[in-house]
Amino acid sequence: MFVSENLSVNENGHLTIGGIDTVSLAERYGTPLYVMDEQLIRKNLRRFHESMQKYYDGKGLVCYASKAFSCLEMCRIVASEGDGLDAVSIGELYTAVKAGFPMEKVGFHGNNKTDEELRFAVENGVGHIIVDNISELHRLEAIAKETGTKPHIMFRIKPGIDAHTHDFVKTGQIDSKFGFALETGEAFEAVKEAVSCENVNLAGLHCHIGSQIFDIAPFEEAARVMLGLIAKIKNELNYEIKELNLGGGFGIKYLNEHDPVPFENYLERVSKVVKSECAELGIAHPFILIEPGRSIAAPAGITLYTVGARKEIPNIRTYVSVDGGMCDNPRYALYKSEYEAIVANKADEERSEKVTIAGKCCESGDLIGENMPLQHAESGDIIAVCATGAYNYSMSSNYNRIPKPAVVFVNEGESRIAVKRETLDDIIRNDM
Ligand code: LLP
Repeated sequence: MFVSENLSVNENGHLTIGGIDTVSLAERYGTPLYVMDEQLIRKNLRRFHESMQKYYDGKGLVCYASKAFSCLEMCRIVASEGDGLDAVSIGELYTAVKAGFPMEKVGFHGNNKTDEELRFAVENGVGHIIVDNISELHRLEAIAKETGTKPHIMFRIKPGIDAHTHDFVKTGQIDSKFGFALETGEAFEAVKEAVSCENVNLAGLHCHIGSQIFDIAPFEEAARVMLGLIAKIKNELNYEIKELNLGGGFGIKYLNEHDPVPFENYLERVSKVVKSECAELGIAHPFILIEPGRSIAAPAGITLYTVGARKEIPNIRTYVSVDGGMCDNPRYALYKSEYEAIVANKADEERSEKVTIAGKCCESGDLIGENMPLQHAESGDIIAVCATGAYNYSMSSNYNRIPKPAVVFVNEGESRIAVKRETLDDIIRNDM
């Protein structure tokens, strides 16, 4: 009935998440409010790591991409499942360190890491640094020498795959700011150099072709291309690349018409390709890492808002304004991303209207969506926007000096605050 499996309707006609009444969550914690369902986060992580076990004999690691949603509690949950983490800034690394995350299971990304970030990663024993470009390799070499360490690195490769997704979230093609190009020979030259570096250990290769991808074929193709490079390195440089990181990007259901492949099928199909390709190329099966972000966090989350103004503009549209907007969810403004919305206190009623849900920011483009089917919404109603667990809180801002909402986790009938709501004093805390 709803896009995410953890949503339902209770006897009061209210929307529930993980069995908890969303209207009572809004009353208790206020709105706007991010709500995350811990059980679904755990279930999604297990879908990936159990299929790694089943289809690739457990010779791999699932590294949750924390850019999708990061806070101390999320890091603790991922750690307790035994999974790894992908971090892309010193802030995400710091969150992991403070959560007590096992840092040897962390991969550090970024196309423009600073020396401070590299040093922080090395000093905190980050498991892999995914090197993006040659100047980073040189800077990391120097830092490793200075600190007497020998970090494990991977190279980020652009495999030249078109992932059929939004241009802003495509990353595998040659015209991308991320990684070393394959077609031009840049990647192979860099590998040649890294192999002879004394202070880093080139353990693996990495690729990430994009995000919100529904088709498994581009992932299979990326695996083939990457294994081809591993074979070339073995044959021409006599060097064994032992690890292959295939990134994230698995699509999820934002609307009922979306039909993503079950996450379990991804590793079933990709493992098959890896095994047959390795046999053909005469190389050993690499240790496989994957980095799902959205697919773990998005379906587990919703955002709750309170409706304020309603404006009916005859023959044009009806605006339903909520107490949040692009400051807590910039994805419609950025990508025209579509969402399912439900009036949480009328969840058992028909969605009888199509409306534009607008935010409260001083910006016409501040919309949660247009043409959204919705129950008749009036001032004081609670609106739930579904599948907002990824790239919402993590991309939120204080535009218009609006404090960020709280994040509440629900689990087994209980709710708890994981991130406090920002206060007005938080808004001015760094002002002099
Ligand atoms: N690994 C790497 C190297 C990545 O760059 C990303 C996402 C992931 C893993 C996780 O991808 P996922 O499984 O979440 O698709 N802000 C955009 C998404 C940007 C994704 C950036 N990289 C959005 O809201 O759609």
